[in-house]
Amino acid sequence: MDDISINNQPDEASGPLTHSPAHANTRKVYVKTYGCQMNVYDSQRMADSLAAEGYSTTDTADDADLVLINTCHIREKASEKLYSALGRLRKMKDVRAKEGRELTVGVAGCVAQAEGDEITRRAPVVDLVVGPQTYHRLPQALARVRQGERVVETEYAIEDKFEHLPAPGKEQTRSRGVTAFLTVQEGCDKFCTFCVVPYTRGSEVSRPVAQIVREAEKLADAGVRELTLLGQNVNAWHGEAAEGREWGLGELLYRLAEIPGIARLRYVTSHPRDMDDTLINAHRDLDMLMPYLHLPVQSGSDRILKAMNRKHTAADYLRLIERIRGARSDIALSGDFIVGFPGETDEDFEATMQVVRDVTYAAAYSFKYSPRPGTPGADMDGHVAEAVKDDRLQRLQALLSEQQYAFQRSLIGKSMDVLIEKAGRVSGQMVGRSPWLQPVIIDVHGGRIGDIINVRIIDTGTNSLIGVREMNSASNGTI
Ligand code: SAH
Ligand code: SF4
Ligand code: F3S
Repeated sequence: MDDISINNQPDEASGPLTHSPAHANTRKVYVKTYGCQMNVYDSQRMADSLAAEGYSTTDTADDADLVLINTCHIREKASEKLYSALGRLRKMKDVRAKEGRELTVGVAGCVAQAEGDEITRRAPVVDLVVGPQTYHRLPQALARVRQGERVVETEYAIEDKFEHLPAPGKEQTRSRGVTAFLTVQEGCDKFCTFCVVPYTRGSEVSRPVAQIVREAEKLADAGVRELTLLGQNVNAWHGEAAEGREWGLGELLYRLAEIPGIARLRYVTSHPRDMDDTLINAHRDLDMLMPYLHLPVQSGSDRILKAMNRKHTAADYLRLIERIRGARSDIALSGDFIVGFPGETDEDFEATMQVVRDVTYAAAYSFKYSPRPGTPGADMDGHVAEAVKDDRLQRLQALLSEQQYAFQRSLIGKSMDVLIEKAGRVSGQMVGRSPWLQPVIIDVHGGRIGDIINVRIIDTGTNSLIGVREMNSASNGTI
């Protein structure tokens, strides 16, 4: 973790007095987040629950009384980040001890769930380990730490954590901007043979409709314009609506589209097997459902897909994409790919390249297979040599970047709605988001954060678009 810096010469202003635990209402927490959007959301909810305990957030460990590392276990490299961060924090804690100043260190997230007390054993600097299903117990756990206990909370709680976690306050939401994440589903029952998520996040749980609607309304009330619904398999979300009718994600999206103030909806991440007709039709019917879909396929080889336990073929995936494009012709696709899964031959890899050529992605994430302890893939025969993985990844990424670049160039000259999210670095410049998720830099004198304005794209930057406000268009930012 590069930004847990160690300040060996703390300045006077951050001396022991201001950080004394006796001054409970001045305690500061630094939350460092790794991994997926769900961890980003969880970190916010943890910060919200600590705010209720008198903690304010800070963006540096130097300044903090409590450091919480929200971890990711998905690949070996992701997990390793925890232990290098803990090494730095150990030094920081030693320096603090000499000054008579305390530092509490907590580990949350998927490594916390997977390794539990292994972490406290391996890293004496850690005071607290808390798994994703027990974040609502964080305040009590911290109270126990203050009593001198080392706490490991990784049992799956029976109570619904969302009922016990304080919802984000208006001010906190405002400070986070006009876009927000909202977890609707957590966990996974799919057990892809490469993946740790079913073990770290547990089995699939959907949050009830009323709870989701209530949180969405609160976010809208605080000024949020764009909601991204989150789930490890977000399109497996299901719930019971009025009169006992069973809803899927499609129905939920139609419902959330009715909330005043919300102008844009997105959802991530979906599994190809859970894209049902209602959800596909929602893309046809709801303009506010953004024309961008992250739909991982992982591999284009049926043999490898079977070994991965994805339970669909490459042809199934291509047919599905065709149906989705039939419902919404301007939809852009993004995906996840793994190269070098055990047993992957050159021919299997070529099949992945072919799927990429057939689909044409606007964006994508691709990874070398990383064997994860406890998953079936780790024990399979035919592990692929690192050099071969490197070579395949390079070729795949070259093709994907070419497609991403071509997609961005295809937007030049087009007009589109852009949601303004923040001021740019140059005065008079604003940064917004296109329907296809690219940041758009606009010279927009007078534009306000939260407005949706019509913009013509005139150029592309490395990972962004450059646009000008269409002169004949009024802001449609207020509904
Ligand atoms: N729930 C999502 C993805 C969760 S993990 C889904 O089903 O699509 C995000 C991505 O990390 C996966 O899509 C996969 O491409 C990658 N990934 C997961 N486990 C991996 C592993 N062991 N090695 C390399 N990449 C992995
Ligand atoms: Fe992991 Fe597969 Fe579940 Fe996605 S669907 S979280 S890749 S097990
Ligand atoms: Fe990582 Fe856990 Fe998300 S393993 S990708 S933080 S669900």
